[in-house]
Amino acid sequence: MPYGAAMQADYLDSDPAYVKAFLDHCDLILPMNELKVVMLRPDRDTFHFEPADRIVDLAVSNGLTTRGHTHIWHGGTPAWMEAITDPADLERELVRHIETVMDHYRGRVPSWDVVNEVIAHEPTPSQPLRDSTWLRTMGPRHIPVAFKAAQNADPKARLVLNDYDLEFKGPRYDQRRAIALSLVRQLQDAGIRIDGVGIQGHLYAEIPIDIEAVAAFGEDLKRLGVRLIVTELDVIDWNIPGGPAEQDAAAYAVVRDFLDGVFASGPPEAVVTWGITDRYSWIPDVMPRRDGQPTRPLPLDANFRPKSWHELIMQRVRLPA
Ligand code: XIL
Repeated sequence: MPYGAAMQADYLDSDPAYVKAFLDHCDLILPMNELKVVMLRPDRDTFHFEPADRIVDLAVSNGLTTRGHTHIWHGGTPAWMEAITDPADLERELVRHIETVMDHYRGRVPSWDVVNEVIAHEPTPSQPLRDSTWLRTMGPRHIPVAFKAAQNADPKARLVLNDYDLEFKGPRYDQRRAIALSLVRQLQDAGIRIDGVGIQGHLYAEIPIDIEAVAAFGEDLKRLGVRLIVTELDVIDWNIPGGPAEQDAAAYAVVRDFLDGVFASGPPEAVVTWGITDRYSWIPDVMPRRDGQPTRPLPLDANFRPKSWHELIMQRVRLPA
């Protein structure tokens, strides 16, 4: 079972130690941002593959695997695409996008986050899905259309629905898990393949994991023939008082509980962290610590020293199922 991490092309040339860390520790390397439509397609006629190609080529030439992230994401849709208001036009563009990108990577990128974060942040029974340009223009069918296009474009690729806030306790999280399951069933009922549900795993160090609920979620998916995959693991430690020792102890505990829940239904497709080193992460930009001290979201510290929860992941992924 692969352990992997998301890589940013920005640091490929500037930081050799960064590249070495991935090669030392990973079975899988994927582009963090470079395959998002907003990065790939500054305008409608351009496919700017070069930055993502560098990462995919690095993985493949080192005998590692990779993943694609992502075709549909409300946070990564370019303005020109958001400006398309005709549903048929948007559908044509979506299908053309998926076909072109998956065609480019066929045989090299075996697993794709087809849709990302399509579940409403705070779902209600009447509004289960994310309010996005996709939902507003195409309606809920943007999801099956995307999966169908992906399946046609690369029949061998594993197709994943990826989302966040699927691991905590409480009605909002129960609701989000139920919607994920229902989306899987709807695709299957329509005869469309889905292979995996990505549980991003942006964990909050102070929010307990609902181990039983994650285990049950994995079992429910397994019954549908769908596997869990951990796609974006990191730890948000903004509310943990103290210093590095306290931050790392809290991170260890929450990652341990999370992996216990995820692995309860069998090994996931992969465990992927959202970056590899505290030197580069989105967490301090979006969720900085109140005391102004550095956040410690990733398995290697800013000097590439593995933390105890890095070892925890290694034990889990190396263990026979
Ligand atoms: C984030 C990246 O880490 C940042 O570098 C970028 O500026 C914005 O996107 N959920 C996702 C990811 O699915 O794509 C996001 O990645 C983090 C939240």
